Amino acid sequence: MSDADIKKRSTMSVHFSSKTDNWATPQDFFDAVNDEFSLLWDVCASHENAKLPFYWTRDQDGLSADWRGKRVWMNPPYGSEIGKWVEKAATGGAAIAVCLLPARTDTRWFHRHIYGNPKAEMRFAKGRLKFGGAATSAPFPSMLVIFRQRRGSNSAVPG
Ligand SMILES: C[S@@+](CC[C@H](N)C(=O)[O-])C[C@H]1O[C@@H](n2cnc3c(N)ncnc32)[C@H](O)[C@@H]1O
Repeated sequence: MSDADIKKRSTMSVHFSSKTDNWATPQDFFDAVNDEFSLLWDVCASHENAKLPFYWTRDQDGLSADWRGKRVWMNPPYGSEIGKWVEKAATGGAAIAVCLLPARTDTRWFHRHIYGNPKAEMRFAKGRLKFGGAATSAPFPSMLVIFRQRRGSNSAVPG
């Protein structure tokens, strides 16, 4: 293996594993999403990579913040906590939570919170995303999952 291959591989191993939680959303992809959904809060961000005017960082802990009634963007850390983030998006009371996730349809979080959930809309990305800072496209497929609040079945019926 050449030096260039070794360098490329080690770069990939940082970018394309759960060792990093900095898979920055490609800006053009985010812009198209935000044109459609008009989001306000980036719940997993740093000061450098926040996509929206309001955001929470690791120190502020977006996972335990109050999402109720908010229009939320979530591209979470892809490590072992990802199920907690998906659970929060599904049940945390956001007006809308638009989530960029690895399309891992064999996972517990996918089956528990997304698959078969009438509040969850799934959109599977065609091709692979090239995340910010990565030299190559991701080695996994991505999906957008949109959780929308629905009025409770006991809400008032007009008339
Ligand atoms: C995949 S990146 C998303 C970056 C950016 N928001 C975007 O969509 O491009 C995940 C970000 O979540 C941040 N993060 C990790 N734990 C967090 C927490 N508990 N609360 C808020 N942000 C957190 C990481 O520092 C990282 O910047």
